[in-house]
Amino acid sequence: MSRASRKGFVIAIDGPAGVGKSTIGTLVAKELGYRFINTGDMYRALTWKALEEGIDTRDGVALTRLAERLAWDFKANEDGVIIRTVIDGHPVTTQIREERVGMNSSLVAGVPGVRRKLRALQRKLGNQGSIVMEGRAITTVVFPDAAFKVYLDASIEERARRRTKQLRGGGKKADLSKIRESIIQRAMQDLQRRINPLRQAEDAVVIDSTSLTMLEVAGKILELVRRKR
Ligand code: DC
Repeated sequence: MSRASRKGFVIAIDGPAGVGKSTIGTLVAKELGYRFINTGDMYRALTWKALEEGIDTRDGVALTRLAERLAWDFKANEDGVIIRTVIDGHPVTTQIREERVGMNSSLVAGVPGVRRKLRALQRKLGNQGSIVMEGRAITTVVFPDAAFKVYLDASIEERARRRTKQLRGGGKKADLSKIRESIIQRAMQDLQRRINPLRQAEDAVVIDSTSLTMLEVAGKILELVRRKR
């Protein structure tokens, strides 16, 4: 049976930066034979393109126009699990992970016109079913009726430690205290913005992963899905 013909659930995951949403979401999607998308990559891709074109990341009108004008495409990797964002024919992967892109993307994601465009793209992907989608406002705004809504959390210390380990693992230099500062700053921006700030959906299952491994958290989500099945 093709992926499209066995329409499964939408599993929506929200949570702050560095909490492990992507690692956990990918583990869950693999296990269920679902697709996985990190919607932060869509905001990052737009931000990267805006920086490349010299667009001011506080200019909401120009950013909305850019989001509308770009050709957005979503391509699965070889094993069909992880969906990558492709803009104007270019897959964006490594360039969107830069710190300047991360910081600016938090501002870009606060622009109503940008959110409207990306929300429409996210709903189109999600409506095909059998997908794990992570980001911010996925459980509250994009898919408030998702079959599974999970809010992941972890202490700032632990999130900074994980992010440092991840960067060092990728051969990059990483300073724990600088990373902690940047995590705190971005969390504040995401929590305090006027449009779709990060918040817990009332009916989301909250999982604190501070003292759990990624596998343990994925196991908890899979358990929820199996119970419902
Ligand atoms: O998950 P991330 O750190 O790669 O996301 C980059 C930025 O995009 C982050 O500051 C929050 C924002 N974002 C959002 O507002 N809504 C989403 N669905 C995903 C990300």
